[in-house]
Amino acid sequence: MVQNVIFDTDPGQDDAVAILTALASRELAVLGIVTVAGNIPLAATTRNALKLVELAGRTDVGVYAGADRPLSRTLVTAEHVHGESGLDGPELPAPSTPPRAQHGVDFLIETVRAHPEGTIRIMALGPLTNVALAIAKAPDIAARLKDIVLMGGAYFEVGNITPTAEFNIYVDPEAARIVFASGAKITVLPLDVTHRMISTPARIDAFAALSNRAGEAVAAMLRFSEAFDRRKYGWDGAPLHDPCVTAYVLAPEIFEGRSVNVEIETGSSLTRGMTVADYWGVTDRPKNAIWIRSGDADAFFSLLADRIGRLP
Ligand code: RIB
Ligand code: CA
Repeated sequence: MVQNVIFDTDPGQDDAVAILTALASRELAVLGIVTVAGNIPLAATTRNALKLVELAGRTDVGVYAGADRPLSRTLVTAEHVHGESGLDGPELPAPSTPPRAQHGVDFLIETVRAHPEGTIRIMALGPLTNVALAIAKAPDIAARLKDIVLMGGAYFEVGNITPTAEFNIYVDPEAARIVFASGAKITVLPLDVTHRMISTPARIDAFAALSNRAGEAVAAMLRFSEAFDRRKYGWDGAPLHDPCVTAYVLAPEIFEGRSVNVEIETGSSLTRGMTVADYWGVTDRPKNAIWIRSGDADAFFSLLADRIGRLP
């Protein structure tokens, strides 16, 4: 059964690997890619998404620009990790494909309403601004969605942009609060699991060894973006975050997690954007998310390489 998915993303090298893996997977119908300001400003995330559909030979998939800033906060970006273009590493040609004219938030709403209930999955790889705006504008879509599978948050692994917050949630905590309170079915791929998916040199070489354009581009992306994290964590490579979302949609069996309550800190300047996950059930707060804590890293990277190898 082909799964209908919509990306909401701020590419970003790791977003790129997640998107390319999905575009190569026959099990997924990527109905559209909505871009959001996050790793770099909106114009750059949109330009990068267009580069990716061209790299994959999938210009049939529309790219829709969404929000250019968080709901209420000043935009925080991450060029220090992803480079000025947000997709530093490979030399990819400027895109010739234009973005679609429709605003990304309206595309999300229209597409969810146009499909049967329970058949659309949102794969969120960046700040949740667009998803929150869509839910605020059309509350009915929360129950219409099959689910939202998102990369974001941290509990056992604490923060990566502050000591307590993961970047996607930190950039727009108010948006995250709206999404987690919406009643939509949510699965979270937090740093707890993405920090186990380490792009070691051997795993990056496996992408280069595919000897196709996409594999070489992925290897160049990961070699660039891992430089910062390798210094930061001192590991034998960088954690590969966003492709955990695509891998979960394709092969949930390689991951483990549990249903928990997740609340988002928006009031404190010290802990802004913290995902307070009640993993041990010490409160009676309603369970509003599946929290993925671990996964099989070898199976994960094998899946990614298998799919990237199918691209031009
Ligand atoms: O914290 C990791 C997340 O922030 C990833 O989605 C990465 O692309 C950045 O957006
Ligand atoms: Ca991202």
